[in-house]
Amino acid sequence: MFHWLEKNPFFFAVGVFLVIAFAGIITILPNFAESSRPVVGLKPYTVLELAGKEVYKKDACIACHSQMIRPFKAETDRYGQYSLSGEYAYDRPFLWGSKRTGPDLHRIGNYRTTDWHENHMWEPIDVVPGSIMPAYKHQFTNLADIETAYAEAVTVKNVFATPYGDEFQATKAAWEAHKPKVLADAKAIAADMKNQDVKDAVAAGNIPEVVAIIAYMNRLK
Ligand code: HEC
Repeated sequence: MFHWLEKNPFFFAVGVFLVIAFAGIITILPNFAESSRPVVGLKPYTVLELAGKEVYKKDACIACHSQMIRPFKAETDRYGQYSLSGEYAYDRPFLWGSKRTGPDLHRIGNYRTTDWHENHMWEPIDVVPGSIMPAYKHQFTNLADIETAYAEAVTVKNVFATPYGDEFQATKAAWEAHKPKVLADAKAIAADMKNQDVKDAVAAGNIPEVVAIIAYMNRLK
């Protein structure tokens, strides 16, 4: 039946290509699906962390920082375990970045602390001599948009089935009920900070951006 095919080198080549491509796809696709599932123990971002992620995008940290540790010795020695795709399962969008003017930040939460970040965000060069990272003093007065972050959590819950609890609903009442949790998270961060204005703001129920970005940094591990 396929004699004609054996006599026609062009179509034979096309046929071989199709067979190999199909076999390749059925071997590879399940692996892709498998490895993009959340790694065991991965939790969705808290609202405060999401607000910090927004600050990270807004202040263009991605222009100088990656969040993707490659499986090379030089990188794992420096940053720790290389990144797995399942770790980004709840990142929408992911913030891998492609430029490393500064170091990778995917595991920064393992080796930097709240007070370190506080000093570093205020004036990087005071903490790391010769640093060319810009200071982000405005984050100490600008307020993080936690209401939008909450809306983001509800959206990814509804659209991508991100496992947020039943208390995450698109209603004002649900947000008001959740807000104290976000404030409690912020208070825990502010307690480790020394900037009195930031502490006062959090005590009054406002969350400066720096608190949110630190919550996000601490989470990256
Ligand atoms: C213009 C490039 C640039 C931008 C933009 C930038 N950084 Fe950096 N960052 C650096 C450089 C360079 C370093 C290394 C020197 C240092 O530690 O200050 C660094 C270091 C860091 C470190 C310490 C990393 C370590 O392993 O010690 C953190 C945390 C960090 N940046 C967070 C941020 C955040 C958050 C933002 C956005 C608000 C940001 N950076 C924006 C260039 C940048």
